[in-house]
Amino acid sequence: MTKITILGIYVVDVAFFAPRLPRIGETILGDDFRAGPGGKGGNQAVAAARAGGAVTFVTRVGDDDFGRQARAPWAADGIDTRFVTTSDTAPTGAAFIFVDSRTGDNAIIVTPGAARELTIEHVRPALAALAPGDVFMTQLEAPLPTVVAALAEAKARGATTILNPAPAAELPDEAFRSSDLFTPNESEAAALAGFPVDGPEAAARAAAVFLAKGVGAVAVTLGPAGVLLKTPTATVLVPGFTVPEVVDTTGAGDAFNGGLAAALAEGMPLDAAVRFGNAVGALSVTRRGTAPAMPARTEIDRMLAEGAA
Ligand code: RIB
Repeated sequence: MTKITILGIYVVDVAFFAPRLPRIGETILGDDFRAGPGGKGGNQAVAAARAGGAVTFVTRVGDDDFGRQARAPWAADGIDTRFVTTSDTAPTGAAFIFVDSRTGDNAIIVTPGAARELTIEHVRPALAALAPGDVFMTQLEAPLPTVVAALAEAKARGATTILNPAPAAELPDEAFRSSDLFTPNESEAAALAGFPVDGPEAAARAAAVFLAKGVGAVAVTLGPAGVLLKTPTATVLVPGFTVPEVVDTTGAGDAFNGGLAAALAEGMPLDAAVRFGNAVGALSVTRRGTAPAMPARTEIDRMLAEGAA
């Protein structure tokens, strides 16, 4: 079976649901809170595993309760954690998440903790286990030199490489050249391309910039509007799915990327894999939380067949 190896951070998400953010010096009453597993890498690993992928997760946690508590949920989702290392000194990271309880929109501060120590030496054993055709996916929450080196080595080993450039950061040219697939959202595409991206037409222009820098294909996520997919030979808008109620958009991009990776590992063509990822993303916003909100394969298949949640 084609494997999916995901490099990224795991943190504990503490999400507060409230009608608005407090101002500095102000206290407001919130509506709800959730504490649970998060980090873009961790969320993508769970999404890909629940979508049916054979997932290996590479991260670093602290020698603390947060780090230990991560293990049981990973095991329940069948995620291979042989390459998860533990720091003796740094704590497991955490994220503060504000969710607007009226719209489901979010704002996040994430501190990677022990995952800030991830070096290419921590990742190399997992890269050595890659076979040609496996999928390797990463984001920009782990240290940039580690991410860039891992992408290059994964590509050299014949893996299909996916870079989800989140959160946006200035990238060396090598990062673009090492990415078979590049998956920014609109704000990340804008930051990386250097002009506003607010819809399919601007997303296509940004995607052209990334193709010129050497990525193989670009999928710009546009929220409910879907995904602008651009390859060297075609540009298509893959529509999103409609859901009855959006309760929490946090982790929707991770859901999309995890689903996309699982679909590519199954051998789906790129446009079908993007549609599959769209279904995973749409389902994830119908429930609160990040990793816990990732849907099961049965739900994804139902949405793909019926076209709605
Ligand atoms: O994409 C959502 C994730 O970003 C959250 O789980 C939070 O931990 C941050 O990493």
